[in-house]
Amino acid sequence: MLLLVTAIVQWLHVIFAIYWFGTILFTRMVLFPTLRRIPEHETAVRTEMVVGPARRLTVIASTGTVALGILRGALTGVWSDLATPYGITYLGALVIGLLMVSYITIGWPNGRPVYGKLYVAGFPVMFTLMVAMRFGY
Ligand code: HEM
Repeated sequence: MLLLVTAIVQWLHVIFAIYWFGTILFTRMVLFPTLRRIPEHETAVRTEMVVGPARRLTVIASTGTVALGILRGALTGVWSDLATPYGITYLGALVIGLLMVSYITIGWPNGRPVYGKLYVAGFPVMFTLMVAMRFGY
């Protein structure tokens, strides 16, 4: 039973993460460069992307990814193994994940542009930490 619950939680965690990270890859590599070639629409499209349904999906995917990731670790007992390489990676991911989700949901004071860059840089870092955990680190 625990195995089934863990598999479902991991499935949900990864699908939420695919959506969240996927939107970053698609917007940075395809959408934003395309919009720069049609500047008359750029501001309108970028404004619409951070309100309404698009915004709601980002909030759901980001909080869902982090909450399910924390639960996924808890289900296999990481809280009693925090001094191991796996536990340390988990704690690192937890801190970075919470910072990323707080940035994108509630925002940080005096919104400096560097925060946005750090947020985007967080994705490859988190992805690497996830694969490391898969191999026991
Ligand atoms: C941007 C945020 C995140 C992304 C893109 C992400 C992505 C992934 C992916 C793709 C996997 C499957 C890895 C594999 O099987 O090789 C995974 C597993 C996992 N994730 Fe995340 N994740 C994120 C955030 C978090 C957070 C915040 C936590 C909790 C602190 C977390 C905890 C876990 C755990 C415990 C696993 C299972 C590792 C294992 O195989 O033992 N994740 N994640």
